[in-house]
Amino acid sequence: MAKEEEKEKEKGDKELGLTDLPGIGPGIAAKLESAGIYDLMGLAVMSPSDLAETAGVGAAVARKAIQAARQMMQLGFMSGDEFDKKRQDVHYITTGSKALNDLLGGKGIESKAITEAYGAFGSGKTQLGLTLAVNVQLPKENGGSNGKAVYIDTEGTFRPERIRQIADSIGANPEKVLKNILVARAFNSDHQMLLIDRIAEMVKEGEPIKLVIIDSLTAHFRAEFSGRGQLADRQQRLNRYLHDLMKLAEKSNVAIYVTNQVMSNPAMMFGDPTTAIGGNIVGHASTYRMYLRRGKQGSRVAKLIDSPNLPDNETVFWISEGGVKDEA
Ligand code: GTP
Ligand code: MG
Repeated sequence: MAKEEEKEKEKGDKELGLTDLPGIGPGIAAKLESAGIYDLMGLAVMSPSDLAETAGVGAAVARKAIQAARQMMQLGFMSGDEFDKKRQDVHYITTGSKALNDLLGGKGIESKAITEAYGAFGSGKTQLGLTLAVNVQLPKENGGSNGKAVYIDTEGTFRPERIRQIADSIGANPEKVLKNILVARAFNSDHQMLLIDRIAEMVKEGEPIKLVIIDSLTAHFRAEFSGRGQLADRQQRLNRYLHDLMKLAEKSNVAIYVTNQVMSNPAMMFGDPTTAIGGNIVGHASTYRMYLRRGKQGSRVAKLIDSPNLPDNETVFWISEGGVKDEA
């Protein structure tokens, strides 16, 4: 009996609840429970703005609580030193712009994470992808990951000529740079999903792939599931795909950059008319989410959206002949 009790106690000690999170007291926990959020999992998948609104707390408190919930859940599956070790081999890829790197935490996009850029036509999503495909090949001390890129092209927008120009601008050999970018045209969403397994295999076989670009993440899903009754199916498939992507990011220690279009919904009279395709499903799966738009005098503006780790800032960058830069 005593043993039973001990076990019970041990279990009780381990099961963390909402009030174990920083900034969440019994009053706020009760509010969350009445909104259907009972445990760490429920809170971990919220966006900071959702949480701030539901719980009536400030943005900073909401971010902290979400970050802590996500961390605690991961810690449930590994010891603290393992967790530490897991973060040690994270690597970064410079975007080419210091301002944009700073927006993303200082060093650009990171491995074991999905970074999403969404925005209108011509906002710079593809140009950023092409720039990253070049920069990943830089040595670590120059902001790269000393590796190859995989470019999954769903729309036929990959341009070798642009790669050559971007490589030239950083003094790299354009032909060598092109050789280190493995381009795959995904013909439909099934094909797009299958390619993920193939990438995991290639990494296992020793290909030094450090970056995977998916341009665009959602176009095929959107085209194939466009009927009125198909939205739920589409979201489910997208959800599975994102889950597979995150697994690839973590297991193979690659950075994942995805592009996403915005919806122009003429029926929508209220709210933000520039909503990303896939909505919350994509938003929750992306570690970093940026909204790109054209700024003044040909500049581009990037805004970080609902990041659990970083403040929602925005910054200006440029697209030049040499790709993403801090000036024109
Ligand atoms: P969609 O895929 O259509 O949704 O758009 P996107 O966001 O991928 O746009 P993309 O990244 O292809 O941006 C295209 C824009 O980048 C062009 O309209 C130009 O403004 C700019 N751009 C592309 N190539 C060059 C270049 O060689 N020099 C300069 N200065 N700008 C360029
Ligand atoms: Mg594009």
